[in-house]
Amino acid sequence: MVQISPSLLSANFADLRSDLEWLNRSECDYLHLDIMDGVFVPNISFGFPVLKYVAQMAQKPLDVHLMIVQPEKFINEVIALGAYYMNVHVEACPHLHRVIGQIREAGMHPAVTLNPATPISVLEDIICDVDLVLLMSVNPGFGGQKFIEHTYDKIRNLKAMIERSGSHALIEVDGGVSLKNAAALREAGVDVLVAGSAIFGAEDPVETIHQMKKL
Ligand code: DX5
Ligand code: ZN
Repeated sequence: MVQISPSLLSANFADLRSDLEWLNRSECDYLHLDIMDGVFVPNISFGFPVLKYVAQMAQKPLDVHLMIVQPEKFINEVIALGAYYMNVHVEACPHLHRVIGQIREAGMHPAVTLNPATPISVLEDIICDVDLVLLMSVNPGFGGQKFIEHTYDKIRNLKAMIERSGSHALIEVDGGVSLKNAAALREAGVDVLVAGSAIFGAEDPVETIHQMKKL
């Protein structure tokens, strides 16, 4: 069954407590936290002082997606949240192998994220060291964007690379995911679906998570 990681970027920040209450009650598998710096991506979301309280209340493992330059500077802050996955962008890490090792040593699950224009070939020499690969299916920085169809080819090619290499990495997709494409994404080989606007904008978000999981 596909796993669901609702993206808090689409939450109501004036009433996060209510959103966290139904998220905890729902069948979602993780909580996806998008951290931005206005440098790596052209937007700023929320930072560690806010996430400290989110982490205290969340009863789901945290899937932390760092859209920032030099993410290795914040490993201690991410550990302090009790994160399960720490996702770093390959485009932000010239010394990716070192950063992945540091995340593993810190006791978290290392994950790498690729922008839409980054080919999966950059993962050849790191695929056996990571627990998850996050493929961006929109250009990162904003919720509610249109899914990039080319992502399907990347998912299939990544799946083949994972099988060929003996890696145990899961495949996660982020951006423009909804009930319309969830089944096709699962069929293509996705293990974890991130969805922001499709869940938080739904009339019944808990039911939408249920529907996405059972597709
Ligand atoms: C975009 C973020 C996503 C975003 C997805 O930069 O990484 O996690 O919240 O939003 P939707 O699901 O609305 O495309
Ligand atoms: Zn994200």
